[in-house]
Amino acid sequence: MSYVSPEMRAKFDEITGRYPRRQAAVIPLLHLVQEAHGSLPAEAQREVAEYLGIPAVKVQEVVSFYSMFTEKPRGRHHLMVCRTLSCALGGCQEVSATVERVLGIRHGQVTADGMFSVEEVECLAACDMGPVMQVGDTLHGHLDAGKTEALIEELKKR
Ligand code: FES
Repeated sequence: MSYVSPEMRAKFDEITGRYPRRQAAVIPLLHLVQEAHGSLPAEAQREVAEYLGIPAVKVQEVVSFYSMFTEKPRGRHHLMVCRTLSCALGGCQEVSATVERVLGIRHGQVTADGMFSVEEVECLAACDMGPVMQVGDTLHGHLDAGKTEALIEELKKR
């Protein structure tokens, strides 16, 4: 199986054309591949590296650095709980424990029905709203156990 179809390759060409150096397009290319396939396994990273003419380890460094990228498939709703200092001081442990209790999974896991996955991440750059959890592209702040549980129940209805 190829992760970079001819159609995607055409989009790659269009995107890299906007940058003075092809390698600078690594992040938007990875977004495209992840949107199409749901994750970025090693083979997908290798194909992107090959296209850009850079070592695969350079792509792997980007994928492992940014929490928006994943090497493993995620649930339909991916919950990222910030565990960095401001959120820790505000009680992110309570948020994490609630997520695990309500969904019955641990961090790094996906529910059996594929609806939810959970991950603890570093600062989401919304420290004034802590404790913070990002679901998809949306940040949810000032969370406690009750608000976290209500949010998950709301997501289950979508
Ligand atoms: S410490 Fe949690 S968003 Fe910054």
